[in-house]
Amino acid sequence: MDTEFWLEKWHRHQIGFHEGRPNASLQQWFDAMALQPGDHVFVPLCGKSQDLLWLLGKGLQVTGCECSPQAVAEFFADNQLQYEHCEDQTASGHTVFQCGRLSLWQGDFFRLPEQVLALADGVYDRAALIALPPDLRQRYVHKFYQELTAETPILLVTLDFQRDPVLSGGYQGPPFPHTDDMVKRQYQAFSRIDKLGERDILANEPKFQAQGATSAYEKTWLVTR
Ligand SMILES: C[S@@+](CC[C@H](N)C(=O)[O-])C[C@H]1O[C@@H](n2cnc3c(N)ncnc32)[C@H](O)[C@@H]1O
Repeated sequence: MDTEFWLEKWHRHQIGFHEGRPNASLQQWFDAMALQPGDHVFVPLCGKSQDLLWLLGKGLQVTGCECSPQAVAEFFADNQLQYEHCEDQTASGHTVFQCGRLSLWQGDFFRLPEQVLALADGVYDRAALIALPPDLRQRYVHKFYQELTAETPILLVTLDFQRDPVLSGGYQGPPFPHTDDMVKRQYQAFSRIDKLGERDILANEPKFQAQGATSAYEKTWLVTR
């Protein structure tokens, strides 16, 4: 699941993760980040999520990072938004798209300049870790640990589910489940990892049922350094 994998997914429009509406857990737990209008929120591996618009609606400066140029183009086209042309590549290899209080850094998260995360007053992360191959997950968490300021909270929305091996016909993912133990292990360097809540989403997710899932929970965590 390197960036090539995701570029191909976007190319084939296999984007079952895209909700098409603001995420329910974000709306329920947004206040836990204690952000004020004008603050900066960073959204890693953002796809073309409607959450970007919802966060803008809160008066925030919103910065997303997404490797797929197609996802970025579709975000602006779907929402009929004009953006500034930023033909110049930054030294990191990203192309930056600007639209009012929204900046989208199109390129690899791991090459994002340090100052982008250092500016963040909060991070909203849905389904990013499970998009990465196992060997990159610890690097992903470490980048936040190193580059965020100590008080910056991370609102983390993860997906945990179980598949019946027979019903799934041997299908193993993606998506892959993100268990509580995995979250605690991955963020163990941070001083606080609080689970804010979990929502049973199986009934609303026919695609999970089709993949043999017998339970599916969206879980929300607040992580602080
Ligand atoms: C599971 S999707 C989640 C998207 C979004 N957070 C949402 O809730 O709809 C993961 C996204 O991460 C992007 N991605 C994967 N690896 C990346 C990387 N190294 N840098 C930037 N984006 C990446 C993929 O193109 C994909 O859009």
